[in-house]
Amino acid sequence: MAPPLTIAIDGPAAAGKGTLARRLAAHFNLPYLDTGLLYRAVGRRVLDHGGDPADPAQAAQAARALTPADLTRDDLRTQAVDRAASAVAGQAAVRAALLDFQRQFARTQGAVLDGRDIGTVVLPDATAKLFVTASLAARAERRWRERGAVLGALAQVTADLAARDAEDAARTIAPLRPAADAVTLDTTALDAEAAFQAALALVAAAIGARASPS
Ligand code: DC
Repeated sequence: MAPPLTIAIDGPAAAGKGTLARRLAAHFNLPYLDTGLLYRAVGRRVLDHGGDPADPAQAAQAARALTPADLTRDDLRTQAVDRAASAVAGQAAVRAALLDFQRQFARTQGAVLDGRDIGTVVLPDATAKLFVTASLAARAERRWRERGAVLGALAQVTADLAARDAEDAARTIAPLRPAADAVTLDTTALDAEAAFQAALALVAAAIGARASPS
C-alpha cells in the first residue's frame, strides 16, 4: 500500500506557511500540525516557572512535560514567547523530545506539518516539500498587520524577525534551510489566494511524480 500523503512546509517566520499549510490540509483532508507551537509551548512553560529558556536542563524538562493542553493556550504568540521559543529550539534535547510526537502525528493518516526542519529532519520522506519564503520587508509588514498591537512598531517587528531568522538559520542542530529536494515558493508578490494556488500546483506535481516515478 502507498504510504499516506505527507506535506512538509518549511520557511522563515511570517512567510505565510501557516495559512498555506492549513488550506492544503483542508484541501487534501489531512490533519495539520503547526510545529512552531510545540517550541512556543516549551518556552512558555519555562517562563511560567520563572526559568531561563536558554538553560538546557530547564528547557529539556519543559519539553518532556509538554501536554496537548499546552498547545491550546492563548498566550503563545507574545514577544517574550517568540524569543523563548527560539532559545529552546536551538537545544538538542528539546528537539529530540519533540521529534517522536511530530513523526507519530503524520504516520497513520498522513498530515501537513509546518516548521523549520520538517523536510530535512522530521519527515525526510515527505511526499511533497515546500520551502515557503518572502522578503524580510514583506514578512515584517504581514506580521505587523496581524500582531502589531502586541509586538510594537514595524521597525521593531522587522528587527525581531531578522534576529530570530538569523538564530534559527545559524544554529548547529536542525537549522532553518531548504531540504535538497524541496521546492521554494516565494510569496513576496503573492496574495494568500495566489500563494495557495501556486502551492497546490507544486504539491499536485509532487503527488504525480510519486504516482509515476520516472
Ligand atoms: O513558526 P513559529 O514562529 O511559531 O516558531 C517558533 C520558534 O520555533 C521559531 O524560533 C522557530 C522554531 N521552530 C523550529 O526550530 N523548528 C520547527 N519545526 C518549528 C519552529
